[in-house]
Amino acid sequence: MVKTKKTTNLTIYDIGGKLGSTGGHFGGIAATELMISKLGISSSNAVKILEIGCGTGGTSCLIAEQYGGEVTGIDISEDMIEGARKRAVKKGLKNVTFKVANAHKLPFENESFDIVIAESATALIPDPSKALSEYYRVTKPNGQVGNIDLFIIPGAPEKVFELINEVIIGAVGRAIKIPTADQYYKLFEEAGYTNLSIEKNQESVLEYTSFKYMKKEYGILGLTKITLKMCYYMIFNGAFRRLLFKIRKFQRVVFEKDENGKCRYVGYIVLVGQKPG
Ligand SMILES: C[S@@+](CC[C@H](N)C(=O)[O-])C[C@H]1O[C@@H](n2cnc3c(N)ncnc32)[C@H](O)[C@@H]1O
Repeated sequence: MVKTKKTTNLTIYDIGGKLGSTGGHFGGIAATELMISKLGISSSNAVKILEIGCGTGGTSCLIAEQYGGEVTGIDISEDMIEGARKRAVKKGLKNVTFKVANAHKLPFENESFDIVIAESATALIPDPSKALSEYYRVTKPNGQVGNIDLFIIPGAPEKVFELINEVIIGAVGRAIKIPTADQYYKLFEEAGYTNLSIEKNQESVLEYTSFKYMKKEYGILGLTKITLKMCYYMIFNGAFRRLLFKIRKFQRVVFEKDENGKCRYVGYIVLVGQKPG
């Protein structure tokens, strides 16, 4: 039986956990693969990796399964971490662990990880600078950071910011301002990272919501389960229903495309950087 949460404080972060979906990130698996290759992660250099805002653990499990090493995923949402643990058990992975934790105050010693990654999480964290100083603190000297996030085109209309916040405020407790690509560079530079490189993409931003992607990620049976759960919550949980309608409107406006199939106002960045030795 599916458990319902009838309270009105349901947030965008709870949806993935409730549906058993990955939550997903901008650019989908293609963006993850690009970040992995830019970081040089391979099975021959298996290392300790921390994923911030891991959601239901899609990327943490993918890295642990394909490249080995020791992967830790943290997320502020208990629902997400529950989903991530289930995923790891289902895959029989012993080299990945998940923990409920806040990126603002990471429960790890200084210099514990070779690589810290975050996918569609940093910009959503109420104080990204504080979070980045935590990523930096727990990274070993010469270690790396990898970050995938939404960026906004300079001069994007105010309605885009408003709609992003309509969906996000309930989850993070305050308005956020999605950075431009240059602002991301500055944020990571100010945190202390060097050798920064950023790749931008405005075409396949919502790839992770397409049917093709979802079919590959979940399979037909998984997709059917997600659809059934979604119908259940839409019928029996008013807060869920209202939030989903809000998200649909947000997607229509914020991700509007131009005649060349590029998002007019937003895109995603794949950023990598290094902590000096
Ligand atoms: C858009 S989801 C992305 C999830 C996952 N990275 C993926 O690609 O599927 C953003 C995630 O960041 C988490 N998050 C938000 N604020 C956080 C914080 N302060 N500390 C840790 N995780 C946080 C949310 O719970 C959510 O799972």
